[in-house]
Amino acid sequence: MRIAIIGTGYVGLVSGVCLAEFGHDVVCIDKAAEKIVQLQRGEVPIFEPGLDELISRNVSAGRLHFTTEVAEPVGNADVVFLAVGTPSRKSDGHADLTYVFAAAREVAAAVRGFTVIVTKSTVPVGTGDQLERIIREANPDADVAVVSNPEFLREGAAIDDFMAPDRVVVGMNDDRARSIMAEVYGALDPVRHPVLFTSRRTAELTKYAANAFLALKLAYINEIADLCEQVGANVQDVSRGMGLDSRIGLKFLNAGPGYGGSCFPKDTLALVKTAQDHNAPIRLIETIVGINETRKRAMARKVERAVGGELRGKTIGILGLTFKPDTDDIRESPALSIVQALLDKGATLKAHDPEGMPAARHVMPELSYHDDVDAVAAEADALVIITEWKQFRSLDLARLKNMMKSPVLVDLRNIYTPSEARKHGFVYESVGRAE
Ligand SMILES: NC(=O)c1ccc[n+]([C@@H]2O[C@H](COP(=O)([O-])OP(=O)(O)OC[C@H]3O[C@@H](n4cnc5c(N)ncnc54)[C@H](O)[C@@H]3O)[C@@H](O)[C@H]2O)c1
Repeated sequence: MRIAIIGTGYVGLVSGVCLAEFGHDVVCIDKAAEKIVQLQRGEVPIFEPGLDELISRNVSAGRLHFTTEVAEPVGNADVVFLAVGTPSRKSDGHADLTYVFAAAREVAAAVRGFTVIVTKSTVPVGTGDQLERIIREANPDADVAVVSNPEFLREGAAIDDFMAPDRVVVGMNDDRARSIMAEVYGALDPVRHPVLFTSRRTAELTKYAANAFLALKLAYINEIADLCEQVGANVQDVSRGMGLDSRIGLKFLNAGPGYGGSCFPKDTLALVKTAQDHNAPIRLIETIVGINETRKRAMARKVERAVGGELRGKTIGILGLTFKPDTDDIRESPALSIVQALLDKGATLKAHDPEGMPAARHVMPELSYHDDVDAVAAEADALVIITEWKQFRSLDLARLKNMMKSPVLVDLRNIYTPSEARKHGFVYESVGRAE
């Protein structure tokens, strides 16, 4: 298959590289010229484990190309994936489809012969219908099928998720596209990695239903954690006791500072808006959107309590800024809200993150950034673990205690146990564990 991908970000780049690994001939396209120049030089613009090796292998094999030009690769393509961003619209929280529509117009002008146009971007139900209209207006002669193929990969494990997915969802209303999409994913073992063919609207909605459900699980265990703190129970044991029930499952039951990232916050909000517009409001998700937002700032109050009730004049060391480990992505990271709340309360902040600091410097210029944990701990009144990077799982607490002004550890990811932190003389706060 000849494949063109519009948008070479976290999803477009990983999808493109993995589709090339499947054996297809792939051109990744992006408007951001500096990104394309980097990729053409053999540099990888994002941090994603295993990505650099896979890119260089497929570039060397001649199956993977990068360009800013749309016309030629789209004209030659059997399948064009749209993988541009769909952020929250500032005015009302709906998904902003500006980039998707603009990309579709460009593609419409460039297609030659029958072409399958696939939305990989997360788009609200009904977007495929709108795209058909836009493409017809832009190029009445275009012979296209618009397909929905939402992406479920997780940053940090993106390659495995794409190459060995739990399932692939493909929604279409045009039978001509079915055999082409089956060939796109033909390298996958159909028993272990099934491709689910549905209607287009069903596929679009499945993505939001899945993400909102995962967010719901997190919001739920976070509220159970708050109750644990009040009644003297341990949320990690509650999670295990619940999650070993195969109907529930252990995943997404780790209590923490609130969900973040480039997907859950915007996708839950967009689902809420879509459901309201169709007069079928999903109250559960409306509720968790609010709960999650307030939770992040509430974490700053936890820090405040741990240092004795006053943050003004205190120096707080932040460990972890990305929304999860193994990515450099800080979009909608809980760290952004927690940091802002700590700054509002007058704290001075020092921070370290293994991969997130370049992006963080742009949006959080008030922090001082340090290359290692020691520099953050030195003379700090407290350390706050926000992201569970593996580097933070085996801190030398005895040594850190001696470097700090006061030994306070606020562990928002429950990495340590209260007993081991206290054994080293720390005042220790975590999430949902009274003891
Ligand atoms: N990041 C994730 O983990 C993830 C997972 C599943 C689904 N998604 C969805 O995938 C989509 C993309 O997300 P992302 O994280 O990869 O975004 P991103 O911001 O990393 O990448 C989008 C890219 O598209 C480019 N772009 C925008 N308009 C363009 C145009 N007209 N022509 C060429 N390039 C253009 C941008 O320059 C950018 O590089 C979103 O809808 C998101 O919800 C993301």
